[in-house]
Order: sequence, then structure tokens, then C-alpha cells
Amino acid sequence: MKLPTQVRLVDVGPRDGLQNEKQPVSAEVKIGLVHRLQDAGLKEIEVTSFVSPKWVPQMADNAEVMHGIGRKPGVLYSVLTPNMKGFEAAIAAPREEWPDEIVVFGAASEAFSQKNINCSIAESIERFAPVVAAALEKGIRVRGAMSCTVGCPYEGEIAPAKVGYLAQLMKGIGVQRVDVADTIGVGTPRKVQAAMEATLAHFGVDAISGHFHDTYGQALANTLAALELGVWNFQSSSAGLGGCPYAKGATGNVATEDVVYMLHGMGIETGIDLDRLIDAGVYISEALGREPNSRASKAIRTKRAG
Ligand code: HMG
Ligand code: MG
Repeated sequence: MKLPTQVRLVDVGPRDGLQNEKQPVSAEVKIGLVHRLQDAGLKEIEVTSFVSPKWVPQMADNAEVMHGIGRKPGVLYSVLTPNMKGFEAAIAAPREEWPDEIVVFGAASEAFSQKNINCSIAESIERFAPVVAAALEKGIRVRGAMSCTVGCPYEGEIAPAKVGYLAQLMKGIGVQRVDVADTIGVGTPRKVQAAMEATLAHFGVDAISGHFHDTYGQALANTLAALELGVWNFQSSSAGLGGCPYAKGATGNVATEDVVYMLHGMGIETGIDLDRLIDAGVYISEALGREPNSRASKAIRTKRAG
């Protein structure tokens, strides 16, 4: 199959990248990251999550961050909302501060669903349904994240049929597009393609994105495998930040810098300025007191210095 000629990237760094961070990160720094990402050309940014601050303390400043960002026309700002309480909090602000898209997040694995959102897969869909309906009614787009589509920290390997089942449930409640997530980064290209194919039975290729954590170093290969199926939406974190608090040992998302370097090298357009993106990754990494977790960033910065 001919590969897509352009790719749309969602930088999930401000949310997925920072949610597991133990040291406090100020709202000002989070806002600074969002601004740098949009200035680098990102057209979609996952800004924060409206979840329980007891479960994920780092996202407790969600409203402050949404309030503080200076929006750029043409950029889509999304937030996670696991239930009505989260959705109501996300739209408690004036309309211009509402997210453009909300994300409900379920799992293809029962055990992970319990650990992450404290309910079964079936219960999660019951919780999401009114959230999806309320968002659509208000003109807010809806995405569904599907965790553990190839492997689960508690259940091991996940059969593609389980992914198809979750995709079908998401479609049934009105979710407009879905993320096929490898939460713990155990997937390899053919397994990721099988999870994608199970999802393609329920969603069109334009409505599917790849969300690959890079724990085992497979995320770029998995991205290419998804591109081979025609998938052209992907999620990544600047500086490779992150990890899920309920997926022990799982590292961050694939670094946006590495994905952009690969895509540009293949002649695939992203609309992203790699140099400015690298600077965004350096900004957040300096705030966290560590090096960006991106090979492309390191190589290009070494060259710059030389
Ligand atoms: P629960 O305890 O079952 O919910 O949590 P509850 O309705 O029984 O409420 C319990 C308490 O939480 C109450 O407070 C509620 O008010 C409060 P209390 O009366 O005890 O003081 N509460 C909330 N507070 C703020 N915002 C809310 C909210 N809801 C309830 N929205 C819940 C259920 C889902 C809320 C909880 O389990 C939770 O917040 N989990 C966090 C999940 C999370 O953020 N995980 C990480 C993101 S997902 C991810 O990273 C995967 C992804 O990247 C894809 C991939 O890689 O796989 C997307
Ligand atoms: Mg994730």
C-alpha cells in the first residue's frame, strides 16, 4: 500500500507526558510547553485531564492550565474526561476556554480498566455514554482512547478480538475517533497491525490514531507498521515524556521529535518545525531537570553545538 503523504500528530506531552511526574510542575510551565508546541506547528495538543486529583495529583491544575493558554487559531485542544464530573469541570469555564475535544478512555483489558478507572469495561462504557452525548450536544468533538490493545501489565497479551469489541462499544455510544494505544510499549509491528485491523472493522482509517509508548523501543517501527495500513494520525510526547500511573514500569510515549524526524526523512509532511519542536522538548526537560528522551533531539543538538 502507498504510504500516507501527510501525518497529523497530537502532542500528548502536557497530559500523558506529565501526569506521572512526581515533582510538582507549575501550571505556568505546562502552559509554556503548550505555547511552544503550537509555535512549533503542532495542530493538536492534549492539554490536561479532568480526573480525580487524588488519583492523579499532577493534573489537579487542569482548569488553571486551560485558562492560561493563549489559543492559536487552527489548533485543536483536547482534555481527558472519564465521567460526567470531569466533563462538567471541563466546561465550567467560559466557552472560549472549553476543550475542542474531550477524550474518554477505556481499556481492551478488564484488569487494566479496573486499575486505571476503577470499573469494568462494560461499566466504563455506561459512564462514558452520557459524557459523549453531552459533549456532542455542545459541539465538542469526542475521541476514545483504547488502552492495552496489544498487551496489559496484568493480563499479558491481548487478543485483537478484545480490541474490536471495545472499538465496537465506543462506536456504539457515538465516539467519533479512537486511539489504538500500546500503553506499556510491548507491541511489535505485526501485533500492532492486528490491533489496528480489529479497529478498522468499526472505524474508518481517518478516525484511527496510533498511540505508542516506547518502553521496548518499538514505537517507531510500530508507527511505520500503522502507516502501512494507511493510518495517518499519531500521538507522541515532546522529549519522550511520560508514562501511565497505572502501568508500572511503562515509559513515555514515543518522542515527537523522533517521529517527526522519521516522517520528514520519508518525505511525509507534518507541518512541524523540528528545530522549534526540539526547543520545546528542551524547555520542558530543563524544567524537570533532565535530558530530553529523544535520540533525534540529542543528535541534532550535538550537531548544533559542534
Ligand atoms: P472512582 O473513585 O471510582 O470515582 O474514580 P467515584 O465517582 O466513586 O468518585 C470518588 C471520588 O473522586 C469523589 O471524591 C469524586 O468527587 C471524585 P470524594 O467524594 O471521595 O472526595 N471524582 C473526581 N474528582 C475530579 N474529577 C473527576 C472525578 N471523578 C470522581 N472527574 C475515576 C473514578 C475515573 C475518577 C478515577 O479512577 C480516576 O480519576 N482515575 C484516573 C485515571 C487516569 O487519569 N489515568 C491516566 C490517564 S489514562 C492513560 O494514561 C492511558 C492513555 O494515555 C492511553 C494509553 O497509553 O493506554 C490515554
Ligand atoms: Mg498513554
